[in-house]
Amino acid sequence: MERIGIVGTGTMATGIAQVAAQAGYSVVVQGRSQASLERCTGGVKKSLGRLVAKDKLTQAAADEALGRIHATQALEDLKGCDLVIESVAEDFEVKRALLERLDALVDDNTILATNTSSLSVTKLAGLVKRPAHFIGMHFFNPVPAMSLVEVVRGLRTSDTTHARVIDLAEKLGKVPVDVKDAPGFVVNRVLFPMINEAAFALQEGVASAEGIDAAMKGGCNHPMGPLALADLVGLDVVHAILESLYREYGQPRYAPCLEIKKRVEAGWLGRKTGRGFYDYSG
Ligand code: 3HC
Repeated sequence: MERIGIVGTGTMATGIAQVAAQAGYSVVVQGRSQASLERCTGGVKKSLGRLVAKDKLTQAAADEALGRIHATQALEDLKGCDLVIESVAEDFEVKRALLERLDALVDDNTILATNTSSLSVTKLAGLVKRPAHFIGMHFFNPVPAMSLVEVVRGLRTSDTTHARVIDLAEKLGKVPVDVKDAPGFVVNRVLFPMINEAAFALQEGVASAEGIDAAMKGGCNHPMGPLALADLVGLDVVHAILESLYREYGQPRYAPCLEIKKRVEAGWLGRKTGRGFYDYSG
């Protein structure tokens, strides 16, 4: 593989673009507006700049990586990519509209991958003409710092597609783990009920947000507490993932805690809006 396409310009797409460019791939990022594309390339530049400041990367290598990223609004520019990863909104209809257009324009050998965290890969594969070339690649936030990629085969994903994606994940410096196409895969199924439970502990006054996070860091060696992590992921995303687990499994243990829901309603989505469980305005 030489050329990787990414559709989307959000946090995950930006992280994937950085990692692919640093690994030497030529990257095409497709976004809906000039402003969102600039936010994406600006994010990569800032993140590479942090690595340069820490002496983990030379300025020349950072410039080269950035130079490998071509940002475009034209979906047609993804033609010629060996693999295209969609990382757009976690909404079946949004993904459907995109996949139908992508399917019509990419080459026969192109692999289409989805970074979905909660939709069925088999169902998404049903939208394209070549489901054997369709697969899930689930990255974690912050992408440059997290080693895991959950590799999700749909029922009709071919062995060749799977092998090529495992090889790519390793070349990106990631650790691929095969997981079944089941709601939440492994990480989100285990992690999000824990975040939800932390919100219930807060609601019941077991401890303050700071106390809950300090307890989980000190008591479980987690790098950050569950409420701070929820703010990093985005409370809208946390809420949507819990709703989806609740809907798919029908188990009350996944029902989102009101402490999450009411913050989403208030527009307190975590770090990205300056307030979530914590206040980041300072
Ligand atoms: N971009 C790039 N690299 C970053 C980064 C970012 N935004 N944030 C941190 N890093 C890198 C740093 O460069 C550093 O690398 P180094 O060890 O090689 O120097 C390393 O990560 C550690 O960073 P820091 O020392 O600055 O900060 P911390 O030690 O506090 O670590 C953290 C920050 C990596 C975010 C750590 O707190 C962590 O691992 N938190 C848990 C994150 C997590 O659980 N993510 C999964 C979320 S669920 C998900 O993504 C699923 C989806 O479907 C929603």
